[in-house]
Amino acid sequence: MCAELLKSDKGSWIEHALQKSGKEGKIMLGNFQYCNPTKLYFGEQSLTFLKEELQKYGPKVQLSYGRDSIKKNGIYDQVMELLKEAGKTVFEDPGVMPNPTVEKLYEGCKIARENEVDLILAVGGGSVCDYAKAVSVSAYCEEDPWEKYYDRMEEVDNRIIPVGCVLTMVGTGSEMNGGSVITNSERKRKIGHVFGENVFPKFSILNPVFTYTLPKYQMVAGIYDIFNHITEQYFSGEDDNTSDYVMEGLMKSLIHSSRIAVADPMDYEARSNIMWTATWALNTMVEQGKTTDWMVHMIGQSVGAYTDATHGMTLAAVSMAYYRYICPYGLQKFVRFAENVWGIQVEGKSKEQIAKEGLASMESWMREIGLVMNLRELGVTEEMIEGIAEGTFVMDGGYKILSHEEIVDILRKSME
Ligand code: NZQ
Ligand code: ZN
Repeated sequence: MCAELLKSDKGSWIEHALQKSGKEGKIMLGNFQYCNPTKLYFGEQSLTFLKEELQKYGPKVQLSYGRDSIKKNGIYDQVMELLKEAGKTVFEDPGVMPNPTVEKLYEGCKIARENEVDLILAVGGGSVCDYAKAVSVSAYCEEDPWEKYYDRMEEVDNRIIPVGCVLTMVGTGSEMNGGSVITNSERKRKIGHVFGENVFPKFSILNPVFTYTLPKYQMVAGIYDIFNHITEQYFSGEDDNTSDYVMEGLMKSLIHSSRIAVADPMDYEARSNIMWTATWALNTMVEQGKTTDWMVHMIGQSVGAYTDATHGMTLAAVSMAYYRYICPYGLQKFVRFAENVWGIQVEGKSKEQIAKEGLASMESWMREIGLVMNLRELGVTEEMIEGIAEGTFVMDGGYKILSHEEIVDILRKSME
């Protein structure tokens, strides 16, 4: 079939394939280009490679980090030592908060611009990496970066400062993607811009040991963030797509390792598998050839804009209501999820029953590892529901395009 399609002179081969199959939209993959430019250094010795990377950039480094975690666990001292040995002038940029704000972004741009820094080194979790990418595209932006990148979603047309990451919290995949999520508390909006490969970190250092000091709450929030990145990309399409098989493997590995890490947070094997799965879940590889859903993230981000709650927990709190709601619209995939990810026995059961059991297994795993399963626990009140629904961007790549009323309903169910 392939040779025949390639020889076709009646339009592109994918159009031809769609006509031949008679099932529009069900053929795997389209035409795409793929490139991921981030160089990764993984493992217990990975920080030593920072020195090598630093040599590629000029002398001025903006060191962006969060609050006190890297000072308490010693990562700050190790990084400073390497910066000193490499002869760098360091401009410190501390205080990047979880869910970084637009005000902090303006502050970071000022440091970058006034000192004409050559590299932004982000040491922290997704918030610090996202923030560093936002500063990198905004420092030389001639207009308000919130308006340009987050409101109007425009691409970058000015100088970009290179970014490198030393990751200390696992979940977002920010270490190997172009995502950058910024919160505008005044406008009650939390918005992600997915920048192109010119904004991806140039390098990222992934040492699983650096994640040992994460509080359990953050560790499990990160684990669910990973899981949800996968389900957001898995629950779409009806075609036979290699990416779905890859994602089933990633989910199984994550479920397995999460149980070990919850029992023993210092288990290197489990922590390293979780770290590696996080990177694969959102380094843009598995989304190729798929439409992808992302509605849990859209609702979760709007919850975050109202509550400043931990990202992974906002996703956990709305997930079961969301997936149970869309299940009938993508029933076949939910059956596959139940069977291939959760090992549900299918003999003698209806499709609805199998799908329901799969979702029940997912829920019990979520409760077992200690996720927040109710929006009230994150500070959501009845009065916020309309505004959260209003602030939710509606995507059209999943099994059901949600109306405002449906989002309100899912939010209400997540409060029960
Ligand atoms: O501020 P410090 O003191 O460093 O404490 C942090 C923070 O309080 C702490 N922490 C990090 N590493 C630690 C540690 N504590 C002890 N030991 C360590 N080794 O953990 C807390 C949370 O950190 P944060 O960076 O906020 O977490 P996460 O990595 O989950 O990042 C969340 C942000 O990323 C965005 C989220 O919306 C949110 O703003 N996302 C980015 C994405 C992307 N770039 O593609 C996709 C995601 O879906 C997500 O939206
Ligand atoms: Zn996420």
